[in-house]
Amino acid sequence: MVIAMTKGYSEQTAGAKLCIDLASDWAGQCIEALDIENNCFLMDYGAADGGTASEFWGKIIKDIKERKTSSQISLIGNDLFSNDNQSLINNLSLHSSGQESAFTLICAGSFYEQLVPNGLIDFGFSATAMHWLNKKVDTLDDHTHVLASNNKVAKNDFLEQALYDWNQILEMRSRELKVGGKLLTVNLSRDYEDRYLGNNGGRTVNVHDQIHSIWKELLNEKIISEIEYKNGTIQNFYKSPEEFTSPLTNENSAAYKNGLRLLKERTVYVDCPYRKKWKENQNTEEFSIGLMETIRSWSRHSFVAALDENSERKVNPVDLLFDRLTCRINSDPENWSLDYVEHHLMMEKV
Ligand SMILES: C[S@@+](CC[C@H](N)C(=O)[O-])C[C@H]1O[C@@H](n2cnc3c(N)ncnc32)[C@H](O)[C@@H]1O
Repeated sequence: MVIAMTKGYSEQTAGAKLCIDLASDWAGQCIEALDIENNCFLMDYGAADGGTASEFWGKIIKDIKERKTSSQISLIGNDLFSNDNQSLINNLSLHSSGQESAFTLICAGSFYEQLVPNGLIDFGFSATAMHWLNKKVDTLDDHTHVLASNNKVAKNDFLEQALYDWNQILEMRSRELKVGGKLLTVNLSRDYEDRYLGNNGGRTVNVHDQIHSIWKELLNEKIISEIEYKNGTIQNFYKSPEEFTSPLTNENSAAYKNGLRLLKERTVYVDCPYRKKWKENQNTEEFSIGLMETIRSWSRHSFVAALDENSERKVNPVDLLFDRLTCRINSDPENWSLDYVEHHLMMEKV
């Protein structure tokens, strides 16, 4: 089976748009509560190509315009320098081209840093972006994803780094927000029953166990080395509701001291859109390629980074990994799904 060509972000991530759409109600409440003055600054952190949130921001800008026509609105799109920022500019511009009172800007850089001046932002938003660790944790040597592993030491190490990172992210946002400004985060998470993206509690296979089992197969077949096997770690962590709210309940955290407060939180679930489509049309080849592509879009770089660049080989192990993943989905489609568990957190700066 041939691995399909890489597509743009929005084309590969149907689920991410559904997750954003589910946050529209809370975003509407944030906007409604804002005391909007002449200049209103909105910011999307980790926006990728901006396509998945285009409808979301379109509605918000429309709502603000309807409230007070004299207010000038700026929407700032953020992602890393390495992102496809040309596509982000193209999608953001849809909100400003031909509009007198709406402006769109790009702010390239990491949201682990302060990205805009103190007190600028009225409404900050981020979706499905803040689960990657800022510093590599190298103690997971028996699985490719820490939450699917039984490695307690690695789990503690990942949790510690994830909480350190989250505190830093919220500290930066607490500086950037205006007093009265709102922050809404939509993040991949772990629920009270230990379900997370790739693990829907056993309704279908654990996607991370499958990825790991193929990576191990490649080791057993001597296609990758022992070191490459161990280095194949997805460096992210899906936090629990308590872990998300911890910087907001700890009065000693930097974010809390800067005035960032918890308004409300909830966990939402999005069923796999690829599986839903397959149930309707029974097109197993389309399902297996579509599901593989969405999994590959967020996991590929972890396995590319694990490979020894100096090792000569006839086949690319990462291509083989996703080729075999497609075959596994194709041969047992009933047992595959990628369901989202997302945490919504609404905050205000006081
Ligand atoms: C899965 S995409 C989500 C895109 C979009 N927000 C959505 O929900 O569809 C995650 C995005 O976060 C970006 N990202 C990851 N770490 C980042 C960081 N430290 N600073 C800014 N963006 C980051 C990635 O480059 C990627 O474009």
